[in-house]
Amino acid sequence: MPTIRIILDTDPGADDALAILLMLASPEIQLEALTTVQGNVSLEKTTRNALALLEFLNARHIQVAKGCSTPLIKPPHGTQGEEVHGKSGLGQAVLPEPKNKPIEAHAVDYLIERFLAEPGELTLFAIGPLTNVALAIRKEPKFAQSVKELVIMGGAVRSGGNITPLAEFNIHEDPHAAHIVFNSGIPITLIPLDATYKCLLTSADVDRLNKIDSPIARLVHDVTADYMEFYLKYEGFNGCALHDPLTVAAVIAPELLTLEKHYVNVDISGGISTGKTYADFMKVAKQPTNMQVALDVKGREFVELFIERMERLAYQFNEEIASGKEQERPRNDINA
Ligand code: BDR
Ligand code: CA
Repeated sequence: MPTIRIILDTDPGADDALAILLMLASPEIQLEALTTVQGNVSLEKTTRNALALLEFLNARHIQVAKGCSTPLIKPPHGTQGEEVHGKSGLGQAVLPEPKNKPIEAHAVDYLIERFLAEPGELTLFAIGPLTNVALAIRKEPKFAQSVKELVIMGGAVRSGGNITPLAEFNIHEDPHAAHIVFNSGIPITLIPLDATYKCLLTSADVDRLNKIDSPIARLVHDVTADYMEFYLKYEGFNGCALHDPLTVAAVIAPELLTLEKHYVNVDISGGISTGKTYADFMKVAKQPTNMQVALDVKGREFVELFIERMERLAYQFNEEIASGKEQERPRNDINA
């Protein structure tokens, strides 16, 4: 089966952790590297979480490059994200201190190097603020044309926002970066709140997964428990949205997404709607379309797919622990 080779720009983050798990559980995907950015928690924490997750999952051969610690222009939001994702960024999960360190190169330089080395071969996923991606575009004029496809979790097109009444967190956290990326010419698939809020993982789903006695099932429980508390408190829902994992559907189950091509941009005017993503549905801006955007999804089908993949990963992980093979497992074995 041909695999899609992916570099993931991320700010782990509870749902970022679930997206990493889903990528590692998906035979369609070869996850080649992570680049980190501040977002849900500080850059130090997102980088530590990325390394710790990979080591926990026996995927320590996947390199991690540390990126930007602040947005381009606006000040970072501070510790607001800890209310949602927990103090560490991974909820109740307590992962051992990682032995690996991030590579020497800055994430922006690493992205440039990897994409220019193989133009048109690698797909970039961005599930945090777009600071690293925007700087790569600005620093190296050939970067944009080297990216095969960019899949972004971000924005609220028809729906309301989750950080202001109008804006979604990733885009609002660095709207100027989003503006650069949206207007870069890279082929973009945008997965906004319009779709992700239809993919609700319930506590009953997590209990079902935990019928399997496995570190994977426990990790899913531990990263989502506090996240679900937040949803219950603020949204009255006993579960959580699978925002970042839904990006993976663009590769493993695109038929679940309702994708429409539009000209989409982001407000950077500094007013109440800063960070708001808007689509030119009526074509009044006379601009060419710059992305396909998921405006709907078969949400429950995606959640079932997510759980199936976690169950399979949990069984594989258990077998490998039992056979003592986990220490030397190359990443693709998990995808077999
Ligand atoms: C996005 O913001 C973050 O809190 C999540 O990790 C996700 O990437 C959802 O708005
Ligand atoms: Ca994220």
